[in-house]
Amino acid sequence: MTQTTRIILDCDPGVDDALAITFAHGHPGIELAGITTVAGNVGLDKTTANALAVASFIGAAGTPVTAGCPAPLLRPALDARDVHGESGLGGAVLPEPQAGPASGHAVDFIIGTLAAAPGEITLVATGPLTNIALALRREPRLAGWVRDFVIMGGSAGRGNTTPAAEFNIWADPEAAAVVFGAGWQVTMIGLDVTLRTRPEAPVLSRMRELGALGSDLLLPALGQYKSVEGDPAVHDVCAVAYVAEPGLFGLVPARVSVETRGQWTSGMTVTDFAGAEPNALVAMEIDTGAFWDLVLGTYSQVAAAMR
Ligand code: RIB
Ligand code: CA
Repeated sequence: MTQTTRIILDCDPGVDDALAITFAHGHPGIELAGITTVAGNVGLDKTTANALAVASFIGAAGTPVTAGCPAPLLRPALDARDVHGESGLGGAVLPEPQAGPASGHAVDFIIGTLAAAPGEITLVATGPLTNIALALRREPRLAGWVRDFVIMGGSAGRGNTTPAAEFNIWADPEAAAVVFGAGWQVTMIGLDVTLRTRPEAPVLSRMRELGALGSDLLLPALGQYKSVEGDPAVHDVCAVAYVAEPGLFGLVPARVSVETRGQWTSGMTVTDFAGAEPNALVAMEIDTGAFWDLVLGTYSQVAAAMR
């Protein structure tokens, strides 16, 4: 009997967020209790519409989608349309969703859901951490209510948006500083491992065998998901794959501090592996072959259920 982990996925769909939603819905060991959206790759209206469209398309229309913050805590909202396309889903064009967003705000959904099930739910964030920071500010006990807290974000080495900063942290450094300073353990699935998950030709050819999931979502989305370094990685899928199979990753305790004032280094996750008081487990290793087998096996289950 597979042990099931209930998660809330806070995200900014976004091509790789869409693939993360699909994985979370399809993996038998994950129960997707809710999706919350935040501005990031594209504006909040589009990240929310994309989350609804993806959930409806893959057969997860019953999963509540609740919209959150339309902008970072202090800084202007900047986006990554150059990477994810104008819509935020690359070249994927999905049918209108069967349902609209849930009423209320994502911050209240996160607080209310975790308060009702303390210690039972893993919070996963794959976008800027604005919603998470405001939830912590509003209800500091949140840090003790999560079963685990996992992010796609940061880097112990170079960034991808600037030489120093990874996009999710760069987009809202003040929020990230609140999150890493909240007294909980952050499992940081950063660029150190996610950059090793660029979908190569054998992966893409296996996606072609997945019916409408492959032809209407995965392949068109990935087909127009580009960045300066070429075909970017499926960063966010790594965070939910960690929840499903943590043994695929090698994590190292570290003290992670977020730079918020540097002219050239704002959004840098300064990672001290010799730090006296670790506040994070930083992913430094990934079994890439096993990762893709897990992901594609999960997608094939989603595809079969869609037929
Ligand atoms: O740096 C990669 C991260 O930024 C991913 O979450 C991607 O979706 C973008 O939000
Ligand atoms: Ca994202």
